[in-house]
Amino acid sequence: MSTSKQFDVVVIGAGPGGYIAAIRAAQLGFSVACIDEWVNAKGGPAPGGTCTNVGCIPSKALLQSSEHFEHAGHSFKDHGIDVAGLTLNLPQMLKRKDVVVKQNNEGILFLFKKNKVTFFHGRGAFAGTAEGGYSISVTGANADTLSAKHVVVATGSNARELPGAVFDEKLILSNSGALAIDAVPAKLGVIGAGVIGLEMGSVWRRLGSDVTILEGLPTFLGAVDEQIAKEAHKLFTKQGLKVSLGCKIGQITPGANNVTVEYADAAGAAQTAVFDKLIISIGRVPNTIGLNAESVGLKLDERGFVAVDDDCKTSLPNVWAVGDVVRGPMLAHKAEEEGVAVAERIAGQHGHVNFNTVPWVIYTSPEIAWVGQTEQQLKAANVAYKAGTFPFMANGRARALGDTSGMVKVLADATTDEILGVHIVGPMASELISEAVVAMEFRASSEDIARICHAHPSLSESTKEAMLAVDKRSLNF
Ligand code: FAD
Ligand code: NAI
Repeated sequence: MSTSKQFDVVVIGAGPGGYIAAIRAAQLGFSVACIDEWVNAKGGPAPGGTCTNVGCIPSKALLQSSEHFEHAGHSFKDHGIDVAGLTLNLPQMLKRKDVVVKQNNEGILFLFKKNKVTFFHGRGAFAGTAEGGYSISVTGANADTLSAKHVVVATGSNARELPGAVFDEKLILSNSGALAIDAVPAKLGVIGAGVIGLEMGSVWRRLGSDVTILEGLPTFLGAVDEQIAKEAHKLFTKQGLKVSLGCKIGQITPGANNVTVEYADAAGAAQTAVFDKLIISIGRVPNTIGLNAESVGLKLDERGFVAVDDDCKTSLPNVWAVGDVVRGPMLAHKAEEEGVAVAERIAGQHGHVNFNTVPWVIYTSPEIAWVGQTEQQLKAANVAYKAGTFPFMANGRARALGDTSGMVKVLADATTDEILGVHIVGPMASELISEAVVAMEFRASSEDIARICHAHPSLSESTKEAMLAVDKRSLNF
């Protein structure tokens, strides 16, 4: 039987934007409900959104497992470790990934309990206005009607489809299918050489697939600093990842056991490729399906995102939106920061997100990570800058690790020496970038970081050396 329950804050969606907003709002003393419709294999709740279920977490689990497999087959030998009879147990690898996901789902349910957030498993939708706020219906396992003064929309995003190529998750795969292929495809096609294409392409290449990535744009990783993108392209090609740039995709035809892709290559020549599986990773679209946004007049922008201002305020009073469903980078940590900021704004505090220091990481091997401006952006904006680079080849820890590919690159203002951007391709770039984020948040100069003692031997010495290189005084290169 349906009952009506009152909350200060109702959050729709329990991805990184929503569940973090709910927890922070509860910490600030509000009564909070969070609604999420994701269903696990047993029909139960699976909070955590795209990130936990079919995004960040399972992709990193498979990236780790496939990297171990590749090391065992190749680089262990260099270390004096001979592995005989190496075989791949793909069902176990996928099972482990599922266990990691489940641990994260359960972790979020635990955090909701700990913080007294009431969780509803089902679909949340606007059902009109209620006294002092909004009425929200929940349909599904925990059917109910809630009312709330504040509503936070955190409904995330879905994979973008190519016209004429429907995701069947058997032959034509979105990120969900790409994380659950049950036998290594001999020939794997990927459309889109963005973050997902490179990460998932790397996983399946390491496990034995012949991977071809067809990219529409003529440049590789156009948003990345050109020098770093060029280096990464060279390294990926050496690993055997085939990336064709400037492709115009035509007809995609699924057969009984394979998919045929017709396309024009960069020279305009007609090509036909046949793949055992095809991943389509050409970006994501905001998810407002089922929200019933129109019933309360919640405005969407021309691209279907919930329209918000810099503070995540929507067109309606006390309705907020965060994460992938609003403008800005589609990243879990961006969604989380917005979630915290919105909860604090609801409490009358000055929640704050600095979009200039949101780091990006591509978890390939080597990893690519960056924060701030690229060299091409500084040139386009006519900003006078100094650049310093340091190759991991000259770093003792990288040599000991056996991973010397790539570099750290620092861009600093030519007059003030303020750090404007840091770009890394190399081992553990995902961890190294945090130092650069902190430096930029505190508006440090390259000299500031160059004068800080870094542990030896560590990869982070490369960051210090790149800062020294800004004034042409590297000590180890
Ligand atoms: P989501 O995580 O999409 O969560 C939205 C939730 O809302 C979902 O659970 C959905 O079921 C629920 N929902 C939607 N509508 C309703 C409704 N009406 N009622 C109830 N529930 C609803 N980002 C990174 O920062 N690092 C990474 O390494 C990374 N890896 C990724 C790998 C892949 C393969 C993919 C696809 C994405 C990756 N991302 C990564 C991006 C990251 O997953 C997203 O930016 C992040 O999940 C956005 O969080 P969110 O809370 O806005 O939305
Ligand atoms: P993406 O935007 O990173 O890359 C899409 C690529 O597809 C681009 O290079 C684009 O030029 C290309 N493309 C678009 N249309 C095309 C077409 N018709 N034919 C050929 N190529 C085409 O999107 P992706 O990889 O789908 O990932 C979506 C988002 O998920 C990312 O932008 C990122 O925000 C998030 N993500 C983040 C990760 C991380 O932080 N490590 C990992 C994976 C995803």
